[in-house]
Amino acid sequence: MNQPIGVFDSGYGGLTVLREIVRKLPQYDYVYLGDNARTPYGTRSFDTVYQYTLECVRHLFDRGCRLVILACNTASAKALRNIQQLDLPALAPDRRVLGVIRPTTEVIGTYSQAGHVGILATRGTVTSESYLVEIAKFFPELNVVQEACPMWVPLVENGEYASPGADYFVKQHIDRLMEKSPAIDTLLLACTHYPLLLEKIRQAAPPNVTILSQGNIVAERLADYLLRHPEIEEQCSKQGRRTFLTTDSAADFDRQATVFYGEPVRSVHLAL
Ligand code: DGL
Repeated sequence: MNQPIGVFDSGYGGLTVLREIVRKLPQYDYVYLGDNARTPYGTRSFDTVYQYTLECVRHLFDRGCRLVILACNTASAKALRNIQQLDLPALAPDRRVLGVIRPTTEVIGTYSQAGHVGILATRGTVTSESYLVEIAKFFPELNVVQEACPMWVPLVENGEYASPGADYFVKQHIDRLMEKSPAIDTLLLACTHYPLLLEKIRQAAPPNVTILSQGNIVAERLADYLLRHPEIEEQCSKQGRRTFLTTDSAADFDRQATVFYGEPVRSVHLAL
């Protein structure tokens, strides 16, 4: 039976997470859904992000997914709790939806010597304060400062992440964050699109600062989750199949996806 693990994002960014998950756990089947037609989510309201995300999760359930990962911080911040608490019990009590914020906040404190971390994210993720709330549960002593970077996703989605124009906006937000808290020694890229800007972020940040992408952290935590939940793990099909769906043009998706996923993909258009 085909019961892939679903991986969802507003667009291409979740491919940076899927890439690491597949590297760590290649045996499973995966179906990736990018809601490219409605990206970006980071500037949209709580209700809109929730409605869009739920629609996509339902579609992934219809495709047989027992487990869906919201590989999008904005969707994890604005939709995950409602989906887990309000929708799943009625819709699919035997299925699971997980996000990327919890696995990251569970470990972030272990990376910082100074006890000062900076969160770079979309405006939606920053205003939700999900990182502040979740980090406080695991590392109450940690000093956490956030910076919303609303131009970064459009730069990445428009293929401008390596252009000289991107330098200005990357430096602007890194400088602002470091001004708020000069003792920061760890920066979290709390948006799945941002790893594409990693080189520029590294150049703009002070040399002693560690920069964390989420993909490998999420992959590690997922492996651990599957070990601890054999009732879910046993239901995930394991034939190494990858399926890519996009709500916008499949040709555009295939052209852009390689830089996020690290290898060519063939996607199928999905009309929601
Ligand atoms: N990649 C998404 C995230 O991790 C946000 C992109 C968007 O704004 O749609 O937050």
